[in-house]
Amino acid sequence: MEKTKAFQEITGSDKYQRTKELRQHGNVTVFEHSLAVAETSLKISKKLHIKVNEESMVKVALLHDYFLYDWHDKNHPKMHGFRHATFAADNAMRDFGLTDKEYRAIRSHMFPLNLRIPTSREAFILTLADKYCATSETLKTRRKRRTA
Ligand SMILES: [Fe+2]
Ligand SMILES: [Fe+2]
Repeated sequence: MEKTKAFQEITGSDKYQRTKELRQHGNVTVFEHSLAVAETSLKISKKLHIKVNEESMVKVALLHDYFLYDWHDKNHPKMHGFRHATFAADNAMRDFGLTDKEYRAIRSHMFPLNLRIPTSREAFILTLADKYCATSETLKTRRKRRTA
């Protein structure tokens, strides 16, 4: 993946480094998951010949799970599945600034769970890439556990 300006600004920031300490699926951190979603999003757009703004695509992918707490911790906010997309969008707006379209893409990434319909090409690809990565990360961890 090409290291765009947005990529460097986000991944190089102290705040974003925190995602390296937060687990997402199995042993995969939020940082690793987000990078995988960014890479997969670009691959999907190429495979399906869907033209996207690559800088913006990478930005929303890196920030789609920027909710900044450990959801495995019992004190995490309730209804994580339904609410974390909004937390992530709000944090991302505060720390990195987002266009309206980017904000909406992050907020709708849990479609259809939260019923916010993706309204741009980037948003649509983000939901696909996220589901693909989440599924393969969960399956990989299960397989590892079974063979351990
Ligand atoms: Fe998410
Ligand atoms: Fe995700």
